[in-house]
Amino acid sequence: MSSSAVVPTARGALPLVGHAPALLRDALGFFSALPALGDLVRIRLGSQSMVLVCSPELTWKLLQDDRTFDKGGHVMDRVREIGGDGLASCPHSQHRRQRRLCQPSFHASRYAGYSTVMAAEAEAAAAQLRHGQTADVHRHVMRYASQAGVRAMFSTGVPDEYMELFPGDVATVLEGIVVRAVLPPVLTRLPTPGNRRYFQARSRTRQTVSRIIAQHRASGTDHGDLLSSLLAATDTESDDGSRTLSDSEALDQVVTFLLAGTETTATTVSWALHLLAQNPQIQRRVREQIDTVLRGAAPSHDDLPRLELIDHVITETLRLYPAAWLNTRITTRDTRLGDFDLPQGTSLVYSPYVIHHRSDVYDDPELFLPDRWHGVRPDRTTYLPFGGGARKCIGDRFAWTEIALFLATLLSRWEFSPADDRPVVPAVGLSLTPKNLRLRVTRRTAPDC
Ligand code: HEM
Repeated sequence: MSSSAVVPTARGALPLVGHAPALLRDALGFFSALPALGDLVRIRLGSQSMVLVCSPELTWKLLQDDRTFDKGGHVMDRVREIGGDGLASCPHSQHRRQRRLCQPSFHASRYAGYSTVMAAEAEAAAAQLRHGQTADVHRHVMRYASQAGVRAMFSTGVPDEYMELFPGDVATVLEGIVVRAVLPPVLTRLPTPGNRRYFQARSRTRQTVSRIIAQHRASGTDHGDLLSSLLAATDTESDDGSRTLSDSEALDQVVTFLLAGTETTATTVSWALHLLAQNPQIQRRVREQIDTVLRGAAPSHDDLPRLELIDHVITETLRLYPAAWLNTRITTRDTRLGDFDLPQGTSLVYSPYVIHHRSDVYDDPELFLPDRWHGVRPDRTTYLPFGGGARKCIGDRFAWTEIALFLATLLSRWEFSPADDRPVVPAVGLSLTPKNLRLRVTRRTAPDC
C-alpha cells in the first residue's frame, strides 16, 4: 500500500472558531471552492473537525461501504433527539432490518393511492392562487406540499389545527438541529425563546404522531396510506420478537419520514418554479407538453411518464439545488479513502451540491439546462440528489411523484414570472430553501386542445 497523504485544511481558519465565519457568510461558495484543494479537505468548526469528500469517485466509494462509513457525528446525534433511531439515523447494525420493514410502504403498488391524495392537495394549491398576485411561492408551496406528504402518510386522524402548525414545526425542528449541532450543549438547554420553540415543536410532532399511530392500530384497517403499510409490515428474516415494528419504532420512522420528506420535497417544487420563472421559454414548452398530454384534465399518476419535460426539469432542479445538500458519516474503523488514511471516529461529509457543481463533471454546471437530460439517464455515481448505496433515499419516488403532480397542476393553470429584481438566494440549513422567492402569478389563457 502507498504511504498516506495528509488531508489539506481549507484556507482561512480563524483561531477558536475555525471556518465557522466563512460558512455563515456563504456556505455554498465556501464548499464549492474546496475541490480545488484536493479529493478530501478538512474543515474546522470551533474544536471540531470534519473532512469533506470532494471527489465523485471517493464519494461513491464512501456510499458503497456503509459499514465503515456509518451514520454518526454531531448532526446525526441531534437528528436522533427527534427521530430516534429511525431509518435515516440508525447505525448500520440496525439498518437492514429497518429498511426491510419500511420498504413495502414505498412499493410501486402504493403510489396510485398516494398520488390521489397528492393531486388533491396540488389542486388546492392551484385553486388558492389569484390572477395578478405577487405570491410568496415558497410559503404557499410549503404549506400544500407538506399537507400532501402528511395526508399520503396518514390519510385519517390528523387534527386540523396540527395541519396548520405542521410546516412551521418541521422548519423549526430542522433549523434547531443545525443550531444545536453548532452551539455548545450548555447553550441548547437554556430557556431562550429559540430553545423553547424547538422543544415545543419537537414534542408536539412526536405526541401528534404517537396519537395517530394509536388510532391506526386500534382501527386495524388498511387506509391505503403509508402508516397502514408500515404497521402491517413483517420482516421474515428477523426473530419472532422483532418481526414487526414496535410502537416506538414506528413513531421514530414516521417522524423521520416527516422530517426527511416534507421540506425537501416542497423546496424542490419552489426551486423548479423559480427556475421556470427565470426561463420563460422552457416554461412555455413545459406547458405545451402538459396541454398535449392532459388535454385540460387534472394530472394523475398514470400521466407522469408522458410528461417528459417535467421529468427533465425536476432532474435539473435537483442537480442545481439538491435539498439534502450535505450529509454526514463517521468512520467505524481505521480505514483508507483514496490516498488518505482515516482513523476510526473521523467525521466525514459528502455533498451532492459540490459534486453537481463541478465543471469537470457537468458542462456549464451553473446553468439551468433541462435539455441536457434529453435521452440521457443520470449517472448514479455523479448525480446524487438522493445519495446512493444502501442508505439511498427510500422516498425518492414518493418525492418525485409529488413534485411532478404539483408542477403539472400549477403550470396547467398559471404562468409564473419574477416579481422583482431581488436575487433569489439559497438559505442554507439542513436543506437549501429559496430566500426572497416572490413570483407574479398570471392566469393562463385557455389552451386550444
Ligand atoms: C426531493 C426530496 C428529497 C431529497 C432531495 C432527499 C434526499 C435524501 C438523501 C440525499 C438521502 C441520503 C442521506 C445520506 O446519505 O446520509 C436521503 C435519505 C432518506 N430519505 Fe430522502 N429525500 C427526499 C425526499 C424524501 C421523502 C419524501 C421521504 C419519505 C417519505 C424521505 C425519506 C428518507 C429516509 C427515511 C432516508 C434514509 C434512508 C436510509 O438510510 O435507508 N426522503 N434522502
